[in-house]
Amino acid sequence: MSVEQYPDVVMPECPVERVLEGQKALVTGSASGIGKAVAIAIGKAGADVVVNYRGGADQANEVAAEITKCGSRAYAHQADVSNEDQVKDMFRKMIQEFGTIDILVNNAGLQQDAPFDEMTIDQWNTVINVNLTGQFLCAREAVREFKRRDVVKAVSCSAGKIICMSSVHEIIPWAGHVNYAASKGGVMLMMKSIAQEVAPFRIRVNSIAPGAIRTPINRPAWETREAYDKLMELVPYKRIGEPEDIARAAVWLASDHADYVNGVSLVVDGGMTLYPGFAEGG
Ligand code: BGC
Repeated sequence: MSVEQYPDVVMPECPVERVLEGQKALVTGSASGIGKAVAIAIGKAGADVVVNYRGGADQANEVAAEITKCGSRAYAHQADVSNEDQVKDMFRKMIQEFGTIDILVNNAGLQQDAPFDEMTIDQWNTVINVNLTGQFLCAREAVREFKRRDVVKAVSCSAGKIICMSSVHEIIPWAGHVNYAASKGGVMLMMKSIAQEVAPFRIRVNSIAPGAIRTPINRPAWETREAYDKLMELVPYKRIGEPEDIARAAVWLASDHADYVNGVSLVVDGGMTLYPGFAEGG
């Protein structure tokens, strides 16, 4: 069997089954990349969506427009997730507009890479503040609203769902990206600790840990044939992930189909965490 190394993958359509009908979702960092695909898929699945972004108002408005075309409500909201006041305002506005929140996708994240001994305190703080503290701030506001509202059986079995966007680098150490790996390792135990604490309130908290996905964050790793072939040495399934691979996982995790799933990291990585270097030898 020949393995296509640089595929033009035709992805199946995102779910059109409206498994999230009547729910209200916030997807942070959803003007582009994984967040954009997740926001659109959640909208197609029937939820109303707040498209959060920090920069790129036009792109965010386009994402909101695409969701609106599918029959759900959507609007774009600018906020820096690492800023407590802006996060509080974003939730206040969402509750005013949509009445409540049922689904938070804690997606906003960034990389600021540097060799360890050249990493500045600004690079360290920016990545920890957005990737980890940002997820804390948004999760805290969501849990407050989930507890206040409680379960509404006609809408969902649970009082609320949080999906944290983590990374295979919550498991795999990553030289040259110490701030990023530390932030994702932090997300993993933050997610599990919140899940343990709020499960009795019928709140589900899980993560998705994507591998290499074709988005702007890692463009140099896939945009040339040479880089792509090198990347594939790390991916046993021999194709890059597409944002829709993550979006489908997010819709399932947010839906009642996953009602008994709590406190787990769902790895979606084409086998990157299978340590392909050990396929021979060891
Ligand atoms: C990073 C990407 C990287 C991937 C696999 C992701 O979390 O943001 O830059 O390609 O992990 O290493």
